Amino acid sequence: MRKIVIAIDGYSACGKSSTAKNVAKELNYRYIDSGAMYRAVTLYFLDHLVAITNCKEVEKAIREIQLSFRVNAKGVSELFMNGINVEKDIRKMRISENVSPVSALKEVREAMVAIQRKLGKEKGIVMDGRDIGSVVFPHAELKIFLTADILVRAFRRQKELLQRDDLVDIDTIVENLNSRDQIDSTRKESPLVKSDDAILIDTTHITIDEQVDEVVRLAFSRIVRSV
Ligand code: CDP
Repeated sequence: MRKIVIAIDGYSACGKSSTAKNVAKELNYRYIDSGAMYRAVTLYFLDHLVAITNCKEVEKAIREIQLSFRVNAKGVSELFMNGINVEKDIRKMRISENVSPVSALKEVREAMVAIQRKLGKEKGIVMDGRDIGSVVFPHAELKIFLTADILVRAFRRQKELLQRDDLVDIDTIVENLNSRDQIDSTRKESPLVKSDDAILIDTTHITIDEQVDEVVRLAFSRIVRSV
């Protein structure tokens, strides 16, 4: 069967990662969480006190960062930065609160997009993010754009954080999601936009399983079409 590229974009905490992960599992494709990469860069910048207004410092820091995805014993893809598993650290609120300004930097985007394109060269990939269908893979065979009501998204994110023993109040989460959506949608470098050829799915009233089934159904229709 021909392999395709599936791009899943959308607002913060719409279930992009859960959908992408499960779709990849169903199709036996590789799953890449591009947001994890921007989160890892942010972790590095915070830990090394990189001034984001200083291009030279930003460029130097990017050269020092090595990112790789490794699949663990449970078949889950995890991000390593300079050889260290950063999955837990990058999901913390301190990263969510700083990631959007870091992701808006041209130097950061160019470096991440180059890695992402390499990972997608062989196709058979599901990648989620903000600019996957618009910039990273403009020729992706299937583009999905997810959206959902802000409160529904915030409660979902709160539950996820709680599962990681991180109790964050709902107002703080709503504020963070709104602020990231605003920065991500209005930045100069590859802003979050729905491509004309992306299929819009509102996940407010549907379950993750329903989201996954719908994307898998669409994927099969594209796979058949591309043979
Ligand atoms: O999971 P959640 O919706 O919270 O966000 P994420 O996918 O982990 O992405 C975190 C942040 O990284 C976003 O708010 C964007 O600022 C940035 N990002 C981006 O600029 N481009 C991407 N392709 C993916 C993420």
